[in-house]
Amino acid sequence: MPIPFYPSHLRALFTDRERELAQLQQATADLAAGRPRHLALFGLRRIGKTLLLLEHAARLLETAPSGPVRPVYIDFEELVTSPELFSRRYVGLVTFWALTQGQGEIEAFLTPTALLGGPAAGLRSVTQTMAAIENARDDPATQVTLALDLPEKLAQELDCRLLLLLDEFTEFAVLGNYPSVRRPWHLFRAAMQRHEHLGYIVAASAIHAMEAIVQEGNSPLFLQFEMVAVSRFPPDATLALAERILGVTPPPGVGRRLHQLTGGHPFYIHAVTTRMSNLTATPSDLQPEDVSQAFVLEVLSRRGQIYHYCRYLYDVSLRLARGYGILKAILQVLAEEDGLTLTEVARRIHKGASTTRGYLRALQEVDLVVEEGGEYFYRDPVLRYWVGAVTQGIEVDPAASRATLAPLLADLEAERFRLATELGAAKEAEVRELLRDFAGQTVDGDLFGLSGDFRLPTFHRVASYRSPDGQIEVDALAENGERWAVEVKWRSKAAGKKELAALLEKAQSLSARPWFISRSGFTPAARAYAAEHGILLSTRADLEKLRRRLRESSGADHRTR
Ligand SMILES: Nc1ncnc2c1ncn2[C@@H]1O[C@H](COP(=O)(O)OP(=O)(O)OP(=O)(O)O)[C@@H](O)[C@H]1O
Ligand SMILES: [Mg+2]
Repeated sequence: MPIPFYPSHLRALFTDRERELAQLQQATADLAAGRPRHLALFGLRRIGKTLLLLEHAARLLETAPSGPVRPVYIDFEELVTSPELFSRRYVGLVTFWALTQGQGEIEAFLTPTALLGGPAAGLRSVTQTMAAIENARDDPATQVTLALDLPEKLAQELDCRLLLLLDEFTEFAVLGNYPSVRRPWHLFRAAMQRHEHLGYIVAASAIHAMEAIVQEGNSPLFLQFEMVAVSRFPPDATLALAERILGVTPPPGVGRRLHQLTGGHPFYIHAVTTRMSNLTATPSDLQPEDVSQAFVLEVLSRRGQIYHYCRYLYDVSLRLARGYGILKAILQVLAEEDGLTLTEVARRIHKGASTTRGYLRALQEVDLVVEEGGEYFYRDPVLRYWVGAVTQGIEVDPAASRATLAPLLADLEAERFRLATELGAAKEAEVRELLRDFAGQTVDGDLFGLSGDFRLPTFHRVASYRSPDGQIEVDALAENGERWAVEVKWRSKAAGKKELAALLEKAQSLSARPWFISRSGFTPAARAYAAEHGILLSTRADLEKLRRRLRESSGADHRTR
């Protein structure tokens, strides 16, 4: 039976994510063994974090229905209102999942009377907690704490462990608007520390806010969670999802174009493929041009799902940020040309550098813009394309023919909008994936700036790393008997000696071999320095070759379900 919130027609399209599911599975197994670990999912909006949580819950319920770990899926978006309502609903929902495995009638759990008179009547932890919440009317912080502690007590009473899958986790901060609660994250942290029977897996679409909560040194939840990156799909998964939607394998050129235009973003893949299937009666006849046409209709016509999504993102994000008009101007400037520096942006909007910095920061806080190596970019190239078009008044008729769309299609072809903006954060995740695919293969040493052949290690553990004191940070630390410390710089300038020296120092203190990856290559001085100090070097082209080489050796499609 499907779980609520995850209907079977959605599940039928679920694609890939094997690596992430394995990480969630490992955390679940560790919880079962009494060693709870907590994970935080990071990724762009609509990249598939919620589906990943639900798929994991569904698999857990299928494979181990009476196992020691029971999943609890809770979306904080709807839940976090006032402290009292939050507390009651949280208790109700946790009890619902723990007792019915997500299968029962949820209504019976949503009000105290229904809950206590019905399913939870015999449960001491629930009745006591509900009574205590009732008694703590004047003390909202206590109410919240009581609710947060309920799952632990319930797990003890039921003699099980609970895996709390908390979606839109950052919404919990809303409780901070109540002066009596004031510091909700402190309450959460204190509660987590009392818990032994619970594992937490949290996700949120507000990337910047989430990073601040789990990654910043001054946050109470700093270092409580391990990060799991939910990335864009690789080309084979893009193709697999399109195949599921169309019911047939699209011709290769179609898959490639689809991946290129959507950047492997599953929500975009879904929307464009569905639109494309409406353009032709026989999906096996689809051409790459159909992908472009479907893309333009999806993004720029009022009937497009992507159009509405971009509109929503733009309006909502800007409403949250201050200085509406100027922010719009900056977004327009970056839609025309991104990768601008602060000074360049400031010049174009005719403002001073420090004012401009403030506005750019506001755009970063709402996840529209990211800064990398002093340059500013859209986080999402499709949104950039939308803003670029819409601010010029371009909007297309949902029924527009290919001939009418010709100029727009030609622009896409020319990649004037540079949809394939590659960002460092995405690159870092990709490099970690690559490291996980190392399996003792022998490759051309040239790809690492060495001569002769080079044998890759096999790593058992690959993750981004930050030392407990926050002093040392690397994009990837790969371990086995041997260790590698990896830095990824995705900028338009060649990397210099100073940056290499910084990595070398970090690598030495981690007893690791340094590997520096730079999009735009290295200065001659940096190359000499690397040779002298045994630093591995790769450029974007090397990385691409390495990726192809590993893909060949691992056989096709091993990642696609
Ligand atoms: N693994 C997947 N397989 C197939 N389709 C997917 C997958 N992941 C995401 N999608 C598509 O993308 C859409 C958005 O996914 P989901 O709601 O899980 O994203 P999210 O990261 O939780 O988004 P938000 O940031 O808005 O909460 C889904 O409705 C589905 O169409
Ligand atoms: Mg979601």
